[in-house]
Amino acid sequence: MEEKRRAEIFINVHKGLRRGLWGLALRIGELDWDDEAEVQSAQREFENMLLFLREHSANEDEIQFSFLEKRAPGATRKEQEEHRKLEYQLDLLEKHWYLLMREKQRDEEGYQFYLEYNQFLSSYLDHMDREERELTEAFYRHCSDHEIDEAFKKIVARTSPQDMSVMLTYMIPAMNPSDRIQFMSKAKASASPDAFDRVKSLAEKVLEPGGWRKLSALLGEK
Ligand SMILES: [Fe+2]
Repeated sequence: MEEKRRAEIFINVHKGLRRGLWGLALRIGELDWDDEAEVQSAQREFENMLLFLREHSANEDEIQFSFLEKRAPGATRKEQEEHRKLEYQLDLLEKHWYLLMREKQRDEEGYQFYLEYNQFLSSYLDHMDREERELTEAFYRHCSDHEIDEAFKKIVARTSPQDMSVMLTYMIPAMNPSDRIQFMSKAKASASPDAFDRVKSLAEKVLEPGGWRKLSALLGEK
């Protein structure tokens, strides 16, 4: 008999983070530091990723990890320590970017930024892997699917619509079709009609036409 799949915890948000982080790594690698418009556009993407990373870390600390800690004290200790280290690395990266923006000749320092960014990326990938394997197991051992879904609703409630749309811009295209339809159905069931319409319009904007056609057909939309 096929086992029922448990509620998802990190899958969609981490896929979105990997998509954004990798995309930015490629972009910084090929960036023409002398082209002001290109640099400004990369900066907007960097700022979006700063927001996404900080928002996600706060959601985990304040909602998901604090819930698991009540059931299994110490279960998230290692990951919380990693959060502090990653936050520090991210703050340094942000400072480095704005120092770099003051330079006239950015090529050489730009390469140093590229190296630092990739060092951060490598630590972050390792961290997500640990959350996906070790913490998912702890959540499934100590929490019900209903409790996991309730935590998800709390995350949605504490996030502003603007910040949510930044996160979903990366998350929706990063999902596979079956995760995407489950995610959208859950959003439809829990969000207000207006909020759901905003998520749907965003999905239409960020998905390839084929992806959007599949999703809208499954959602029963025109
Ligand atoms: Fe995470």
